[in-house]
Amino acid sequence: MQIVYHESNKTFHLYNDAVSYIMMVLKNGHLAQLYFGKRIRDREDFSCFLEIIDRPMTACVYEEEKAFSLEHIRQEYPVFGTTDFRHPAVGILQENGSRIMDFQYKFHKIQNGKPGLFGLPATYVEDEGEAKTLTLTLEDAVTGICLELLYTIFAGGGIVARSARLTNGGSCPVRLERAMSLCLDLPDHDYVWMQLSGCWARERHVYNRRLEPGVVSIGSMRGHSSHEHNPFLALKRPCTDERQGEVIGISLIYSGNFQIQAEVDAHDTLRVLAGIDPETFSWKLDCGESFQTPEAVLVYTDQGLNAMSQTFHRLYQKRLARGYWRDRTRPVLLNNWEATYFDFTEERLVEIARKAMECGVELFVLDDGWFGKRDSDYAGLGDWTANRERLPGGISGIASRIEELGLKFGLWFEPEMVNEDSDFYRSHPDWILSAPGRRASRGRHQYVLDFSRKEVVDAIYAQMVEILGNAKVSYVKWDMNRSITECFSNGWPADRQGEVFHRYILGVYDLYERLTSEFPQVLFESCASGGGRFDPGLLYYAPQGWTSDDTDAVERLKIQYGTSFCYPVSSMGAHVSVVPNHQAFRNTPLHTRANVAFFGAFGYELDLNKLTDEEIREVKEQIAFMKKYREVLQFGTFYRLKSPFEGNETAWMAVSGDRKTALVGFYRVLNSVNGPYTRLRLMGLDPDCLYRNLLSGTCHYGDELMYAGLITSDDTAGQTPADTLHSTDFESRIYVLEAEGGDWGLSDPFPSKSSRVN
Ligand code: GLA
Repeated sequence: MQIVYHESNKTFHLYNDAVSYIMMVLKNGHLAQLYFGKRIRDREDFSCFLEIIDRPMTACVYEEEKAFSLEHIRQEYPVFGTTDFRHPAVGILQENGSRIMDFQYKFHKIQNGKPGLFGLPATYVEDEGEAKTLTLTLEDAVTGICLELLYTIFAGGGIVARSARLTNGGSCPVRLERAMSLCLDLPDHDYVWMQLSGCWARERHVYNRRLEPGVVSIGSMRGHSSHEHNPFLALKRPCTDERQGEVIGISLIYSGNFQIQAEVDAHDTLRVLAGIDPETFSWKLDCGESFQTPEAVLVYTDQGLNAMSQTFHRLYQKRLARGYWRDRTRPVLLNNWEATYFDFTEERLVEIARKAMECGVELFVLDDGWFGKRDSDYAGLGDWTANRERLPGGISGIASRIEELGLKFGLWFEPEMVNEDSDFYRSHPDWILSAPGRRASRGRHQYVLDFSRKEVVDAIYAQMVEILGNAKVSYVKWDMNRSITECFSNGWPADRQGEVFHRYILGVYDLYERLTSEFPQVLFESCASGGGRFDPGLLYYAPQGWTSDDTDAVERLKIQYGTSFCYPVSSMGAHVSVVPNHQAFRNTPLHTRANVAFFGAFGYELDLNKLTDEEIREVKEQIAFMKKYREVLQFGTFYRLKSPFEGNETAWMAVSGDRKTALVGFYRVLNSVNGPYTRLRLMGLDPDCLYRNLLSGTCHYGDELMYAGLITSDDTAGQTPADTLHSTDFESRIYVLEAEGGDWGLSDPFPSKSSRVN
């Protein structure tokens, strides 16, 4: 990887084997974007890519050069009020009421490695040789505001990470009204925009649309990244599919309000902006202060959607997630929520845990209801001390009992919330987000604590440390069960209220940072009513998240498939629950529930005591299977093969790093009688390797399986009774392929310093 500066044309070329990113300083000192795409050879002069055309009716920067209009130039970080009429990357309201800015290039710095972003989650390097970073410094002479644009190119994969930092070097405070993390101007709009959207229990479904002139955007104004839209976008060429074709992935490492927008102009060029939602953001920048935007990650590939996803997976697994659990396969857990809801005693929990232990479960998670007066969701949030009526020995008591059984113990918290009926609220009624004299709306009967205030975060931290420091807690599920409505802080003055949404998220990150540093071996799982804050920002602190409250196996196919476009399998909490399912009321076979959940951070969400002996035998086999193959399932290379959004069948697979083992998940929602012949063309295998299919006992070379395909036709023609063979609705199979011999070692672009422990 290299970052080259050509002084003669003031051109910057960032490249590695996969991509080139080229920009240039214009004669007015602004930065033009020249190229982002497949690697091209370096040369002195790329200015031909500028395409300055003398178009009629344009406002020009220089009287003597009519063609030089920012309206028609692709830029790196455009401003308002020059000759550009598209949406800007930055908006700054100045003392005199002006919003006009003119950032001009001053100098740059190229360094090995990648600096951290203070207070914000970001990708990182373990070794300086893994990346190079370019910092471009620009200045607006009138206000004295300095803009630093940071670009990191990684050695492996088509990855460019970007962010911006604004520093007020002038003598008057200003107000940032918009400070996007990236702007990417592309020369044409021949893309399909692919977003991940939905709602509670239907998160991250895939939606596609062709771009046309005008603006398309997704975002959140809810205070969390949201169930509705994920901070991710793929721009793919119309002919791109999972196996081939150009695609640009854009992912924002942020958990709060965001906006990702595409604007196609009159000449078919495309501007993409990604960053903090400007509508709900207004930040006072006093003299001498700086503002750092969140990081946005760009991924380019011409190898199709699977390659894009695999690049995100590797980066987020290895260089965004951190700590003890980053490289470790995840414990098989049992969570009591759907087993008991609020209706439990310590004895009942121990009974559930004992059975779980007998089946091979490794971690028992006590969900909501263990604290304060939490008998229902009307009370208790904020009082993080054990309810002694339910748990006579407190958390340390139950944790020890669970550990004595041979299981690890995990605990649920919802740190950012408070119920009116709680001691915490009674002591600090002004610590919720609410505006004086106005009604504070509730969500799930609770208020949102004002995490923009340090004293509030400190108070919750103190309670959590008390619990985690005095009991054997190995896992924390951190929930967040409502959106922010009346976003007003009683701790900040009037001219800082526009900062509260962002300061809230900084408070969340601060608490996460403190707790993960204090308890480095605790596994954190993020959650927000399922997948309402399933974003890269939280992956930095919590290497896994609860993917969705919807545990129905059929529904989960779409949710997990959609989620996989950006997020690794190891990050997706996936549990087997009872039937009829509590969300969809559907009856799916036990093996199908597991076959879906295997491709995730696997667990159970039920009382195993209620299963039949036959089912318990099956559960034991499932857990043994997961333990045997979880390294491949959670950390292997993941491929999507068949989309649940396009038909009745879904398929995906995971291949081990050495390509000696592959697991193929094949799912059919509705059965058909005398159905069609079906095959799956597999991916990622070694063509020369002979694989044994453990399901059929047959052997096939990798090339056969990839090019001729794995035959998945139902050999009963769909007419054999369900209890004797695989012929019913909601059917599924896992094909395990094991290499018969050979050495197929591949190099890892992000090697781990510590060896992986299972
Ligand atoms: C949220 C979570 C669930 C569960 C409940 C507890 O809905 O998504 O998994 O923890 O809260 O109240």
